Amino acid sequence: MTLERVRSDFPALVPRAGRPAPVYLDSACMSLVPRPVLDAMEEYYRDFPGCAGRSLHRFSEEVGRRYEASRAAFARFLGRSDPAGVVFVRNATEAINLVANGLDWKAGDRVLVTDREHNSNLVVWQRLAAERGVRLSTLPLPDDGSFDVEALERELAAGVRLVSFFHTSNLDGRTLPVREITERAHAHGALVMFDGCQAAPHVPVDLDRWGVDFYAVSAHKMLGPTGTGVLAAAPAPLAGLRPLLLGGETVEWSTLTGHALRPPPHRFEAGLQNYAGVIGAHAALDYLARVGLDAVEARQRSLNARVTQALAGEPRLHVLGPDAVKDRSSIFAFTLDGVDPHDTAVFLDEGYDVMVRSGMHCVHSFYERRGLPGNVRASFYFYNDLRDADALVRGISELLERTGGGASGTSAASSASGRRRARARPRAAGSRATAARSARPRRRAERGRAGSARGSG
Ligand SMILES: Cc1ncc(COP(=O)(O)O)c(C=O)c1O
Repeated sequence: MTLERVRSDFPALVPRAGRPAPVYLDSACMSLVPRPVLDAMEEYYRDFPGCAGRSLHRFSEEVGRRYEASRAAFARFLGRSDPAGVVFVRNATEAINLVANGLDWKAGDRVLVTDREHNSNLVVWQRLAAERGVRLSTLPLPDDGSFDVEALERELAAGVRLVSFFHTSNLDGRTLPVREITERAHAHGALVMFDGCQAAPHVPVDLDRWGVDFYAVSAHKMLGPTGTGVLAAAPAPLAGLRPLLLGGETVEWSTLTGHALRPPPHRFEAGLQNYAGVIGAHAALDYLARVGLDAVEARQRSLNARVTQALAGEPRLHVLGPDAVKDRSSIFAFTLDGVDPHDTAVFLDEGYDVMVRSGMHCVHSFYERRGLPGNVRASFYFYNDLRDADALVRGISELLERTGGGASGTSAASSASGRRRARARPRAAGSRATAARSARPRRRAERGRAGSARGSG
């Protein structure tokens, strides 16, 4: 598929209201949605808006068929031979919570996470530790992106019930050696869960071959509708989980005094489901298959390399994570000396139509330990083009220049007032920047800072 063709499939990339096409570099938070996904959801509401598995009429039959077809597609996509291991959930957060609350913990059981997990794979364990006597340990990861196998072995040898790691990091894009971790953990009798949020949209996942017990995915990070995701589990560990929610669809039968649960996966899908979303998520997988994960990886890597190279001479720019671009997946996370991350994000949006994320990216623990206010994260996907990468570079370069000189050594804007001007009105906004608008970036950045302070994310 040509890039032109791809971009024309994403309505959000169409220029509107006199503005150029948006430069969307926040796909690690949520990817954009292509037209076939929108069409699939509309088709559901228009042509067979029934509920699956309850009624015998044709709408119900059709939605049931499509719902299960989506399950089978996720199983294939993630390398699970048995679709019954795929549980539909709202997002990876729910998938991790399902496992955390579903295992039969005993006081003293130990959970091992890395020292840079998303809150979705951290706070639920903290609560288990506080309320159920589970012990939570963290494995420190080297800053250079390597993985310390010896350190893992030491932790495993001390006894671990569950290893729960990210597959690819949302902080710096590093990818962990899933198969090796899984084999080592199993050798010590531990279960293994990976948070696949930032991996499944980009690299082939082969869960049966890797032997992973639980894998959490958010489909809205891989072209799917918001609030869709899966827990992809191996049969035996899934059968041992206690459902989070009970009710309609989860039971074979009930009396006034008891009930019998349905087998997995249905026992975990309580109540009427997000049929449109699940059907849309299937269309998302089909779209990704048409593009090809090789092409996805190649494109984001080339954009990441282009930005990295273009800014390599900037002494005030610091890129987080591994040096090698190939080890950073789609993520270009950075700080600029002397410029607040939220100011940077608002400057890029206002001046260059570049949308990035700023703050702590729901990994407060990482920044808190280093006394950092967060950083800026640009994340690429296959629908981004060279113009997007170049717009990011231009925006960062202008900001560096205005706040104290970039690689060119410009220092005319290095005063405090220069810094304030840069925040208030990016040069590229030029004629568009009315007084009202130029005040807005500061207010937005303040909101971001207040959010970080509150610990949102
Ligand atoms: C690594 C990682 N884990 C978990 C999550 C949580 O995803 P969701 O909010 O879709 O559950 C994210 C979201 O950014 C993430 O990047």
